[in-house]
Amino acid sequence: MSKGLYLVKILVQFMSVKTLQKELGYTKYTLGERLSYYEPSKNISQKTFAQELSQSIKQKQKSINPKFFYDEKGSKLFEKICTLPEYYLTRSETNILKQLDGKLQSYLDGNFRLVELGSGSAQKTRILIDILTKSQKHVEYFPIDISNTLKNSSTVLESDYKKLHITGIIDNYENGLEFIKNYDDMKNLIVFLGSSFGNFDPENGIKFLQKINSSMKKGDLFLVGLDLVKDKKILHEAYNDLQGITAQFNLNILTRINSELGGNFDTRKFAHHAVYNENQNKIEIYLRSLVKQTVKIPNANLMLEIDEDELIHTENSYKYTISQIKQMFTSTGYQIEEIWSDDKRYYSLALFSKK
Ligand code: AVI
Repeated sequence: MSKGLYLVKILVQFMSVKTLQKELGYTKYTLGERLSYYEPSKNISQKTFAQELSQSIKQKQKSINPKFFYDEKGSKLFEKICTLPEYYLTRSETNILKQLDGKLQSYLDGNFRLVELGSGSAQKTRILIDILTKSQKHVEYFPIDISNTLKNSSTVLESDYKKLHITGIIDNYENGLEFIKNYDDMKNLIVFLGSSFGNFDPENGIKFLQKINSSMKKGDLFLVGLDLVKDKKILHEAYNDLQGITAQFNLNILTRINSELGGNFDTRKFAHHAVYNENQNKIEIYLRSLVKQTVKIPNANLMLEIDEDELIHTENSYKYTISQIKQMFTSTGYQIEEIWSDDKRYYSLALFSKK
């Protein structure tokens, strides 16, 4: 490419990032030589915790969106869950990732950017960064996360990896991917780990896959961690651990409502309840009320009447068969490149391209 053409290309790219910045209301912040992040301006309207809660908890089946698990305490408890002996998911996924070294490279051509949906456990991200670092000189990492904890985890990564260039996007996955699609023409390896896809109900899961697919360029890859259907005893134990950490994680959502919305939930009057629904291959998680009670949440304008044994739904965690995975992804515009799983066939990592 001639120098002139190259400069025009850079200028066009710069202008399109600028335009996009304006359109989506993003502002760029620079934290270091190899670390920056984009954040949408505050005026982008999003439903508040109070608004979302007051809608879902007024339904006949009371529910709280699982995204509200992850305040500071909830995120710490989730990290603890990931280390529990019963919670095989993180271990299985990490093992498969470690074995990808040498295998994943055959799908990469030395010019891929790592885009992570969620900036979760740094350990798993590191395995992928290590793989990319071995096969390319320049490595870019774009974590997309609605929470700004992304800044902290990225700062640690920047100092640990001297060649790594990090650009965080503090927004939801859909907007973040749309931004990256138009950012430049570098190919993206988009990763969505930790079985988080399993927390979508089927309808929203399909919509999510279609959305990701439409923001992928030809040549981009999508690597997803999915938990597999297995013996229900193993599943039950994974969500009913002996130390009761999952119970604390579940109950913490009520503590969060108390501290952020002025609620008066008494967590001693609720119990963690997680069951496997064999017909739909999902773990269903609830908070069960131990007594008949009234709860006030003034900042969401709520007064709740809760019966003894009434269940408040907090999460679904879907498990898949390999044939379901194939069906779900091929019907939403993906081509299957490879599906890896561990020796016990507990968990899978699936790699897709855009059809
Ligand atoms: C984040 N997500 C994939 C976890 C899961 O297994 O569904 C959340 C979780 N809930 C209870 N334990 C773990």
